[in-house]
Amino acid sequence: MQIEATAEIQGIQSESQKLMPDYLIRNYWWAYIHPKGVRVFERQWLVNLILWGNFARLRDAALDELGATINGRTLQVACVYGDFSIRLAKRIAQGGLLDIVDVLPIQLQNLRRKLPASAPVMLYQRDSTRLGFANAQYDRAVIFFLLHEQPASARRQTLAETLRVIRPGGKLVIIDYCRPRRMHPMRYCFRPILRAFEPYALDLWHREVTEWLPKGAPLKQVRKEVFWGGLYQKVVITL
Ligand SMILES: C[S@@+](CC[C@H](N)C(=O)[O-])C[C@H]1O[C@@H](n2cnc3c(N)ncnc32)[C@H](O)[C@@H]1O
Repeated sequence: MQIEATAEIQGIQSESQKLMPDYLIRNYWWAYIHPKGVRVFERQWLVNLILWGNFARLRDAALDELGATINGRTLQVACVYGDFSIRLAKRIAQGGLLDIVDVLPIQLQNLRRKLPASAPVMLYQRDSTRLGFANAQYDRAVIFFLLHEQPASARRQTLAETLRVIRPGGKLVIIDYCRPRRMHPMRYCFRPILRAFEPYALDLWHREVTEWLPKGAPLKQVRKEVFWGGLYQKVVITL
């Protein structure tokens, strides 16, 4: 389903009940599904606080990897609170296109409100595990802090689907949690917070992102860079 600025919210919401993944309803209703949650979390300072002051650095690490001026077709898998998509849209070159998918209409509507009407962006209600786009139709894709919210099966499917829609020679940029270095204070005090609020996040402390990639995927290069003592990582996959 494609969301236009004038989309009928009612119709989309009833349709979406069927699409909502269980893990999202169970663990993240308060952050993404409940309208009060959207109102509370849609604050730049708050998303920055949740990332311990690293939001801008991680956002820019992803965007710089995609390019200062971005040609062709770009896919953002899942909405992000704050100005991530606004900044990404600003970098899209004349004639370029940015498609953003999310499984929740409330998130897509929230994002639509944030984007200038003239932004070269299309919003789609899609589950990242079943994107429904044609093979190799994108030049690049970005996944910003989605994988740690998904159970392993959904994470694996999201990666397989995203790689499927990127053309040979294209690029996937992932930003997410990672295991901090041994002496990092967050290694000990952040673990219980993640365990309580983000039940799948510690998977990214214990395993490399590459372990959830489809076997035999035609990858030319995988590059990993860590930030802030290793609590965060950027993984760049070239096909
Ligand atoms: C990208 S993640 C987390 C981003 C970050 N924590 C932030 O500051 O917003 C949050 C988004 O992922 C979306 N999402 C979760 N599971 C999804 C799925 N299977 N398909 C598409 N979107 C999904 C949620 O609806 C939500 O909008």
